[in-house]
Amino acid sequence: MTKNNYHIPVLSKEIIEYLKPKSNQNFIDATLGDGGHSLTILEKIKPDGQLLAIDLDQEAIKNASERLGKYKNRITFIQDNFINLETIVAKKKFFPINGILFDLGLSTAQLQSSRGFSFQSPGKLDMRFNEIANDQKTAYQIINQSRQDDLAKIFKDYGEIRNSRMLARKIIAQKKEIKNARDLTNLVKNLTPTRNENRYLAQVFQSLRIAVNNELKNLSQTLIDSAQLVHRQGRIAVISYHSLEDRIVKNFFRQESKDCLCPPEIPKCQCEHKASLKIITKKPIISTQKEIKNNSKSRSAKLRIAEKL
Ligand SMILES: C[S@@+](CC[C@H](N)C(=O)[O-])C[C@H]1O[C@@H](n2cnc3c(N)ncnc32)[C@H](O)[C@@H]1O
Repeated sequence: MTKNNYHIPVLSKEIIEYLKPKSNQNFIDATLGDGGHSLTILEKIKPDGQLLAIDLDQEAIKNASERLGKYKNRITFIQDNFINLETIVAKKKFFPINGILFDLGLSTAQLQSSRGFSFQSPGKLDMRFNEIANDQKTAYQIINQSRQDDLAKIFKDYGEIRNSRMLARKIIAQKKEIKNARDLTNLVKNLTPTRNENRYLAQVFQSLRIAVNNELKNLSQTLIDSAQLVHRQGRIAVISYHSLEDRIVKNFFRQESKDCLCPPEIPKCQCEHKASLKIITKKPIISTQKEIKNNSKSRSAKLRIAEKL
């Protein structure tokens, strides 16, 4: 069955403008989702350009491969974690790479699913992007089985929640099983009433999702690999949706655009670090008011681009 309520790709026009896909070039979409960005890239790189499309989520791969069926000779779908980019590219002999896109976070399908990603849609507390991963704790396990200090750290580090210790203490103290997303939502509302309830809940859910999927570590590692893999003058584009991710991207691009990383008090460079990237977006690109009106998810989006030297 063909879906018609696909995830609306964020900053789609800007992605094309800055990634500059051209006829017969090769690109990687490391976060395929519903394939909206992939589709526009595939159109720009025709007739023979190839796209490597990666997503951890089996459902995403299934839906996007149906949607992008007519491009099947020019697209390779990989269900895997983008932290494994180097291995994936080597296995598929996918060279040269003219650009890599990361559109981080969640797709609309995931948000609306019953997998516990959102406090607004009821569901089991799972939150794994890859539902068949046996080596990964679910949100249910984290919230019900973590020690108080570990839970507080997750709320603080991944949700930037100010009263993280109090929230963790209250959750542990109530000694009740939190079975699903609705239980968690009701509990947080009761334990820590706040004027900005939705924002607070979003932070709690975000922190658990980041912990479940190891999202910040994945991002840090894949940026290092991407900078190695992309061809000269190829570009890396990252759309992030919260400050934790954006900070990682900003700092990485900054670091990789410098020739020396020695502290300023050292008179002569000892690190011998050489710049590998040029920053294309000094400030992140954000959505226009028009886009935000049509697609509320684009409200928090920040796009940063760097080019391989
Ligand atoms: C915002 S959606 C992408 C939407 C897509 N650009 C589109 O136009 O439909 C982000 C996607 O990245 C995937 N994802 C998140 N972390 C991942 C990772 N470490 N490796 C591979 N895919 C990941 C999610 O499963 C989700 O489908």
